Parts: sequence; C-alpha cells; structure tokens
Amino acid sequence: MPHRKKTATLFALTVFVLLGSAATTIRPANKFRNLKVLPQDISEQRLDSIMDTYCRALKVNCDFCHKPTIDLTGVAPANGDLDFAADNEMKEEARRMMRLTIDINKTHFNFDTTGKPGYLLNVISCNTCHRGNPFPAHE
Ligand code: HEC
Ligand code: HEC
Repeated sequence: MPHRKKTATLFALTVFVLLGSAATTIRPANKFRNLKVLPQDISEQRLDSIMDTYCRALKVNCDFCHKPTIDLTGVAPANGDLDFAADNEMKEEARRMMRLTIDINKTHFNFDTTGKPGYLLNVISCNTCHRGNPFPAHE
C-alpha cells in the first residue's frame, strides 16, 4: 500500500473510533432504540415492570415477542440473547394491543361524572382480557 493511502486509512479509522466513543458517552443509560408507543424517556425500571406485566397477563416469556439476535451470517447465536429493539410480527401485534388498551381507557374510563379527566385511567389492562392466555379468542 502506498504510504499516503495508508495514512489516509489510519486517519479515517481514528475518526471513526473517536466518533464511536463519543456516541456511546452521550447516549444515556436508559435510551431505548425503538419505542413507538411508550414514551422515549421512560426509565429502565418502568419499562421492565411493564414488560413483566405483559409476561404475566399472557403467561409467556420475553421470547414470545422478542426474537434472538441474528448475526451477519443470518445465524442466531447459541446463547439465545434476544434483540429487544428489533421488530417482528408478534411485537407489532403487541403494539396494536397497547394502542387498543390505551384507547379503551382514554375513551371510556377517562372522565368522572363531572367530566374531570384522568379518572380511572388504567382500569383496563392486558390481563382484563388475557387472564394468562396469549390467544383469548381461541380458548
Ligand atoms: C406481549 C409482547 C411482549 C413481551 C412478552 C415482552 N415484550 Fe418487550 N416489548 C414489546 C413491545 C411491543 C415493545 C415496543 C414498545 C414500543 O414500541 O413502545 C417492547 C420493547 C422492549 C424493550 C425496548 C427495546 C428498545 O430498545 O426499543 C425492551 C428492553 C424489552 N421490551 C424487554 C423485554 C423483556 C426483558 C421482556 C421479558 C421480561 C419483554 N420485553 C417481554 C412487547 C413485549
Ligand atoms: C379488550 C381485550 C384485550 C385487551 C385489553 C388486550 N388484548 Fe391482546 N388480544 C385480545 C384478543 C381477543 C386477542 C386474540 C386475537 C386472535 O386470537 O386473533 C389478542 C391477541 C394478542 C396478541 C397476539 C396473539 C395472537 O393472536 O397472535 C398479543 C401479542 C397480545 N394480544 C398482547 C396484548 C397486550 C401486551 C395487551 C396489553 C397492552 C393486550 N394484548 C390487551 C384481547 C385483548
């Protein structure tokens, strides 16, 4: 490799590494990457407890909605680590359910008799319908 080309490559690599480490330092610890329904600034603790309620309501584990990480060769590693940010059909289905649940609460349980908002806002939960069954329409 000619000397100039080598220097240019080295320089590009250095910039790349510097940018990379800057990005990791700026990103806050609880920054989730792919939230479309939950608030972007939700705490890790709050998100974890919401995910736990989904598991309990449907009587499933995390892998019902989250699939294993796929590496560049398209193979899932043996450790079975889940890629929580990646989307798939079941996760999309769950988002649809989250919106439905929010909508029922907002539309039907959001006002008391005087019209005061925020009353009984979370009466309907996943468990109201699921009761430990992931497919409530098919007993
Ligand atoms: C019933 C389906 C379902 C189950 C079960 C579930 N999740 Fe999720 N999870 C979702 C959905 C849907 C989202 C995306 C929410 C959004 O778009 O706001 C999500 C998002 C997440 C994220 C944020 C990823 C990112 O960076 O955007 C994490 C982390 C996560 N789940 C962890 C878990 C863990 C840990 C468990 C098991 C204890 C679990 N989930 C069980 C449906 C599920
Ligand atoms: C008003 C009742 C109701 C509520 C509330 C509800 N669900 Fe559902 N959910 C259903 C029904 C009924 C089905 C079955 C649809 C089917 O079998 O085709 C279903 C199906 C699902 C599925 C897909 C399983 C399949 O059929 O492939 C997921 C995932 C899911 N719900 C997650 C949730 C989560 C998470 C919540 C809370 C955020 C929630 N649901 C709240 C009624 C509800």
